[in-house]
Amino acid sequence: MAKKNIDWENLSFGYIKTDKRYVSNYSEGKWDDGAIIEDDMITMSECACVLQYAQTIFEGLKAYTTSDGKIVLFRPDLNAERLAASARRMEMPVFPEDKFIDAVVQTVKANADYVPPYGTGATLYVRPYMFGINPVIGVKPADDFQFRVFTTPVGPYFKGGAKPITIKISDFDRAAPHGTGNIKAGLNYAMSLHAIVTAHDEGFAENMYLDAQTRTKVEETGGANFLFVTKDNKIVTPKSNSILPSITRRSLMYVAKEYLGLEVEEREVYKDELKDFAECGLCGTAAVISPVGKIYDHGDEICFPSGMEEMGPTTKKLYETLTGIQMGSIEAPEGWIKVVE
Ligand code: PLP
Ligand code: COI
Repeated sequence: MAKKNIDWENLSFGYIKTDKRYVSNYSEGKWDDGAIIEDDMITMSECACVLQYAQTIFEGLKAYTTSDGKIVLFRPDLNAERLAASARRMEMPVFPEDKFIDAVVQTVKANADYVPPYGTGATLYVRPYMFGINPVIGVKPADDFQFRVFTTPVGPYFKGGAKPITIKISDFDRAAPHGTGNIKAGLNYAMSLHAIVTAHDEGFAENMYLDAQTRTKVEETGGANFLFVTKDNKIVTPKSNSILPSITRRSLMYVAKEYLGLEVEEREVYKDELKDFAECGLCGTAAVISPVGKIYDHGDEICFPSGMEEMGPTTKKLYETLTGIQMGSIEAPEGWIKVVE
């Protein structure tokens, strides 16, 4: 098989239809065997629970080509575990975690020609998702569900790749205390659409959401957690029950401590401390680590000493170590890399 004729170096974070996808259906209390199919279209009732009451959850992970030409996944077991947590919170059946990994592996293998070559800066984004598919009109969970996995080759989430971005502190809330901010439910992203369009219209790349209860603490952005570097080179990340437990952030905290020997702290981060940090980054599967140069707060600007030209030195070390692990040039901790082929 030959790689597809795609301009890998210039890909943005967009959807490109690939050849194959995985589908499995749940009805009468059990999942079927699942299969790889070609049809990218989904037919469902006009009254499907997902369409009326947004009963849908998803995951995001990437397949990488390593320096020695293998295709690998980064910690897919944690995506399986998080999808299961999302399913429980959304009254959906759990898709068994071993079947999840098998489905992702099968889908990536079936689309191997779309996995960007090593060194292009692009990756194959993998999107597992599940939704309630039977008609539901009184407010209650569906009985029948569909689990799917599709893939799409992607470049950097933010235009300009590693160039620092400017974000704003949003006046909108993303997640309520005791709400669904800590799971990956489509509804959290629906909540953020007006806020992100508003931020983009005002010239900002993203929003910083504060905690909805006191609006004094840093939560996350629409699609990534925050990492801060203090002036004495400690790594700090916000602790909150209403943010997504990012796999990238958890991995970076480990890398910071075990590979770079840095002190790490997961704690409440107050908006008032932002001005004291040396570096700021957004971390996630799509964002990898995207440096933030400036935060706009209602007329005030918080400018990080790392500036608007390039990543700060510690963010850069974290970025290089993490991507080195993902692409096989740095030895990974036990169990972090799953070889597809
Ligand atoms: N926070 C939100 C709201 C996200 O959508 C994502 C993306 O998945 C993340 C954080 C980062 O999580 P991960 O590193 O597991 O991709
Ligand atoms: C991811 O990083 O996988 C996400 O789901 C974030 C989304 C904004 C693309």
